[in-house]
Amino acid sequence: MSIIRKDSLSPNKARDKTSKAFCIIGNPIEHSLSPIMQNAAFRYMNLNYSYIAFKVTDEELEDAVESLRKINIAGFNVTIPHKVQIVKLLDKLSDEAILAGSVNTVNNEGGLLIGYNTDIDGLMQPIEKRISNFNGIKILILGAGGSCRAALVGLARKKGIESINIINRNKDRLMEVLILGKRLGLNCIPNDYENRARLSEICLSSNLIINTTSIGLRGEKSPIKSDFIHSNTIVFDIVYRPVNTDLIENAKKAGCKIIFGYEMLLTQGYRAFEIWTGLQAPKEIMKQALIGTFGDPK
Ligand SMILES: NC(=O)c1ccc[n+]([C@@H]2O[C@H](COP(=O)([O-])OP(=O)(O)OC[C@H]3O[C@@H](n4cnc5c(N)ncnc54)[C@H](OP(=O)(O)O)[C@@H]3O)[C@@H](O)[C@H]2O)c1
Repeated sequence: MSIIRKDSLSPNKARDKTSKAFCIIGNPIEHSLSPIMQNAAFRYMNLNYSYIAFKVTDEELEDAVESLRKINIAGFNVTIPHKVQIVKLLDKLSDEAILAGSVNTVNNEGGLLIGYNTDIDGLMQPIEKRISNFNGIKILILGAGGSCRAALVGLARKKGIESINIINRNKDRLMEVLILGKRLGLNCIPNDYENRARLSEICLSSNLIINTTSIGLRGEKSPIKSDFIHSNTIVFDIVYRPVNTDLIENAKKAGCKIIFGYEMLLTQGYRAFEIWTGLQAPKEIMKQALIGTFGDPK
């Protein structure tokens, strides 16, 4: 779906004086970096818009969405744990949000709340910067939650992927993502989470490893050790706080290419901005605002 208007104004020239409110809902939410990133973009583009974070628990989700509807919110982001539950509270979904079964960006289009999944582009664009030809590549995905589903929808756009091994603790969720992968025409292989010898074997034979679990967020050690990682492999940890998770540290020790979680955060944020405003996102401004919060990672 194309959302950039042909008459997009150049950066810093938007000057929309209409006042609009945007927000992010989730729990926990205190550490969200989206307000810093989106407010920097609004300011730079001379838009009289503001973006704040609301803590919303599972029990509060339905009332929260109803309240946002009543105040005619212009748009909002949705983060853990509501990306799947929000779906049934919206009026319409983009095709990719339907496929992924989850939404992280909502746009108010004439009073209707429309759900999008910008995590898909958020995941894919950093990968596409490093891999141009997917023919014959082997991928390992750790985790089977919403982000794994977004990764599968994005990877299904690519031709020639040989296999996607998926490893997850909860077997029911693992089976659900395998069904999705099959429906998308991908060769997905399920694996036992506890079998570390098999994990090592899969890691060493993978061209791309993506951690889509929240392991690392609270300083947990990754099950993927440095000696499981080949130096030719690309390691992508979608956890963005801390920037250098245990998996990223292990990947550095292995001497391989790294994709940081903040790269996904930025890309999904660019897409959300573009959906809300119809304007090209001021990428460098958003990146500088984000990097300013934790320093340039090496
Ligand atoms: N960089 C970005 O822009 C970006 C975007 C989206 C999400 N994220 C991050 O990605 C992570 C996952 O998000 P999500 O929306 O996919 O969450 P989700 O749908 O709740 O899925 C969480 C996944 O993590 C696994 N998991 C959690 N704790 C674990 C542990 N201690 N050991 C093993 N597995 C564990 C779960 O396994 P079980 O099924 O076994 O419970 C599940 O596979 C979060 O940390 C989130 O902050 C980053």
